[in-house]
This record gives sequence, C-alpha cells and structure tokens, in this order.
Amino acid sequence: MFFRPVKGQVINHGVCGHVIEDTMEVAKDFFEMPNEEKAKVYSMDPNKSCRLYTSSYNYANEEIHFWRDHLRHPCHPLDKWVHIWPENPARYRDVVGKYTNDVRKLSLRMLEMIREGLGLERGYFGEELTGDQLFAVNHYPPCPDPNLTLGLPKHVDPNVITVLLQENVYGLQVFKNGQWLGVKPLPHAFVVNIGHQLQIISNGKLRSAEHRAVTNSREAGTSIVSFINPCHDSIVEPAKSLIDTGVPLYRPFKYKDFLKFYEENKGDTEALMEAYKIKP
Ligand code: OGA
Ligand code: NI
Repeated sequence: MFFRPVKGQVINHGVCGHVIEDTMEVAKDFFEMPNEEKAKVYSMDPNKSCRLYTSSYNYANEEIHFWRDHLRHPCHPLDKWVHIWPENPARYRDVVGKYTNDVRKLSLRMLEMIREGLGLERGYFGEELTGDQLFAVNHYPPCPDPNLTLGLPKHVDPNVITVLLQENVYGLQVFKNGQWLGVKPLPHAFVVNIGHQLQIISNGKLRSAEHRAVTNSREAGTSIVSFINPCHDSIVEPAKSLIDTGVPLYRPFKYKDFLKFYEENKGDTEALMEAYKIKP
C-alpha cells in the first residue's frame, strides 16, 4: 500500500480553527455517548432525514458491510432542519450549525471560482444546483483485521462538491494514475471532492476522483463531510456553453432519479456514467 501525501488540500480557507476543532470534538463525543443515547437517532429507515446507521444506507440488502458507523442529516437552511438534529451532546446543534454555515460559504466560494474558470455565466451555481446540503460524520472503529474489509469502499460522491475534514488518523485514499494514494491528514485542512454532478455539468472538463477509506487495527478514525447537492427536483445537464462538439457527453436528468440509480449501483462508477452518457 502506498502512502504519499497528496498535494492540493485547502488551507487558509477562512473557517476558524476553533470551529473546526469544536466540530471534530463534538462529532467524536457523539460516538462516545452510551448506546441508549445514540439509539435515539439510530434508524434503519433510509427515508429518515436525520439518522445514525452502520455501513450503508441500506444495510439489509448489501453484499458486504462497511466498517463504519455513519451519522447524517440535512443542514441547509439551518432553521428548517436544526430541530431534527441530535439533541446530545448538548452543544452539538450550536457547534455543527456554525460549522455547516461556514463550510457552505467556503463551498460556494470555491464553486464561484470553478464557475469563473469554466467560463459559465454568473449565478450558474444557484439554489437549483446547491440548495441542498448534508452534514455527515463517518466513524471507523478499530478493525481487528483491516485486510478483510474497508471502512468505505471505492466511490465517487454523487453530489456537486464535497468538503471533507479528516482527523489525525489516516484512512482516506484516492485513486490516481492507477494506484491508491493515502491522503495525509493535515490539521485544519479540507479535502475537496468533485462529485458526479460537477463532472456532468462541466461536460467532462472536470473529473471526479474515486476514493475510499481504509481501517486500522489500533484506533478509531472520524471524518466530517459536507455535501453540497442539487435540490432533488432540479434538472442537471451539461452547461450549454461547454458543449463544443454540438453533442453533450451526458443526458439531462432529475437529481433525485440520479441519486436512486447511484444508490442501486453504489461503487460502480462505470455503470453509472454509462447510464448517463450519450452514446455517439
Ligand atoms: C464520504 C467519504 C471518506 C472518509 O463520506 O463520501 O468519502 O474518509 N468519506 O470518511
Ligand atoms: Ni466520498
């Protein structure tokens, strides 16, 4: 297994160090609470907006379980969702509310730069494409034999753009030039993933990267993830000005239909892209 630092994590991003540290602390505190407390948000129902579960959204039907516990909930707009978030730890809602707000601003700033870089018109990444945001915590307990399973198998994030915070435990790997590379956890730095939607909108000019998380046998790892998503009913398609051949690479779709297909084909990036590619 290779372990090399991958350049290109985001630093000097304007999200305060204490906001980042508080959020990581409260996320770890959540998983350290007694099971009776965590059971309040635990659910096997994939339709529940705020829930804690083990492995994937669909534990009952998956062939291989992932070595992780996962807490997720919507976080934008804050006042619409905050009341369904975990009530404990006591400062969870305050701390995570501030974090998700700051990371949203950062994500939109990065999308604005990407928009400019692609030469798209002002306001292209408006509410339709960014109006939904999910906050998630991945908790990877120590695994007695890390050779037997993965914390999270390889995938591309289905959304537009993801901002990921690692703690000081190595786990994230990205597939680059035919090999898996470890992404070194750097203090207060964010890993940014280009999701499927950005690849499609840019008509293939931006490429999303496959990544996964490995486990270790010594200590638990925690990562915090903010996903910027299109609204469920939004139509996503390649930007007209980026179609230089006259024919777009991908067909238009409703985001919620893409998401359904993604969940059914989890991990199979090729099958997914094939389904949405326009065949010449
Ligand atoms: C994800 C993800 C990696 C990690 O949640 O989509 O890629 O290190 N997480 O937890
Ligand atoms: Ni991911």
